[in-house]
Amino acid sequence: METPAAGTADEVKRLQRCVDELAGALAPPAAWIGRESPSVATALLDVVLRILDLDFAYARVDDPIDGAPMEWVRRRDGPVGPARAREVREALQRLASDDASTMIRPVSDPWGGGVVSLAAFRLGSQRSVGLFAAGSRRTGFPTEAERLVLQVAANQAALAVLEARQSDDRSRAEERMREVALALREEADRASRFEKIVGASAPLRTVLSYVAKVAPTESTVLVTGETGTGKELIARAIHKGSRRASRGFVSVNCAAIPQSLIASELFGHERGAFTGALQRRIGRFELAEGGTIFLDEVGELPPETQLALLRVLQEREFERVGGARPVRADVRVLAATNRDLRAAMEAGSFREDLYYRLNVFPVAMPSLRERRGDIPLLVQYFVDRYARDAGKRIQRLAPESVELLQSYAWPGNVRELQNVIERAVITSRGGRLNLERALPATGVDDEHARPAPERTGNAVLTAHELARLERENLRRALEATGWQIAGESGAARLLGLAPSTLASRMKALRLRRHR
Ligand SMILES: Nc1ncnc2c1ncn2[C@@H]1O[C@H](COP(=O)(O)OP(=O)(O)OP(=O)(O)O)[C@@H](O)[C@H]1O
Ligand SMILES: [Mg+2]
Repeated sequence: METPAAGTADEVKRLQRCVDELAGALAPPAAWIGRESPSVATALLDVVLRILDLDFAYARVDDPIDGAPMEWVRRRDGPVGPARAREVREALQRLASDDASTMIRPVSDPWGGGVVSLAAFRLGSQRSVGLFAAGSRRTGFPTEAERLVLQVAANQAALAVLEARQSDDRSRAEERMREVALALREEADRASRFEKIVGASAPLRTVLSYVAKVAPTESTVLVTGETGTGKELIARAIHKGSRRASRGFVSVNCAAIPQSLIASELFGHERGAFTGALQRRIGRFELAEGGTIFLDEVGELPPETQLALLRVLQEREFERVGGARPVRADVRVLAATNRDLRAAMEAGSFREDLYYRLNVFPVAMPSLRERRGDIPLLVQYFVDRYARDAGKRIQRLAPESVELLQSYAWPGNVRELQNVIERAVITSRGGRLNLERALPATGVDDEHARPAPERTGNAVLTAHELARLERENLRRALEATGWQIAGESGAARLLGLAPSTLASRMKALRLRRHR
């Protein structure tokens, strides 16, 4: 029989070996949270399992920011079924509700009959960051020495978790800074290029007077209008005229994001919220904090996101995907759509309550056809800008060229005009713009403006439709005569009109030959 002293010396040696092994297993602290955590945690559990000859070992790390806790179970005799892991957790939950930092209790063996002795240790002294537990069927488990080893393991793990958390908080803060900086830079690029609102027509002046009124308020604004009419430009102008001007303007195109990702894009997600959500990510609403968010194509939002948006508008708060805690939102919402939202609402694809909540202050952008008077100003503005970019000198446009541009239907509105001018500047030679070539081949008429009116039935035509029909008719006659107006084989004769009448109708309808 060994003397007590020799026994103690052996025990101390064994303890030292155990502690050395533990220290090795816990070396990389940052890995306790994040992608590598499963391997680090299970490595620790395996070491304890082996050196103390346990039946099973368990660890749990509570996430500080409303995410789900992470937990791991390792077993000596084979795999851990999910049901068993749950039983371990439940047994532990009962234990862990005790206040003591260490608990040793007999519990029924989760993997079979009989009783195991379970030793559980709270991770962290003041604040609990998780739980660590060891189970053994051995009677007398844990011995005083084993308890010490387990306590050391728990302490080491707690330190590692706390350290990892600090660096995780730091990297989260850094990540947020990076995202904010990136968003602001993108924004600055876009905003610096397109910020001037050009035009002096009555419809545009009306819009600008609305902008001046609504900008300083906190109202939600819904900007409607055809594609390319300047809805985003107006939203930016509203932001710039608000007390939020010095904060971010975050633009989200709801139609460009897959529906399954849109909630996470807008509201962010917690780590593990869905497959592939490896890190917590902040959403566009958090990026826009203190500033303005612009929801473009808001009609494309799926139903659950419409509900979440309604909540932001009404209660000024939202939840991250997979998160349990509401996040406050100090963000002004501006929205735009080129769809008929009222029709979408009536058809049931857009929430009625959200429609009325968004539509507090509607601003309807006029199409370019409704403000042809602005075309010369816009043309000059774009010519100057693209000529400067290309380092070219472009001659002043001839009045015929300007008229040609004014007579086109512009289904793509200002954006289309902008693109046409850009193309014309790029292909220009000797300072002259070739507009005929820059315009779409389908020519210059109103065909794009609306679908052809029904020819059947006795539908009443609007003045505009009537003008279109007349214009179309004159064009056909002119084409048939090779654009000859007067004379025996002229279009006037074909139409039964005096040549002077045809000429003045052509002028009124902006009908002229191109190419
Ligand atoms: N009045 C204007 N003065 C100067 N540029 C304008 C004007 N209106 C629109 N633009 C320019 O036309 C382009 C299209 O504008 P914007 O993106 O705001 O349109 P939109 O209505 O949001 O289009 P979409 O529906 O396709 O998203 C932009 O490059 C914008 O700068
Ligand atoms: Mg837009």
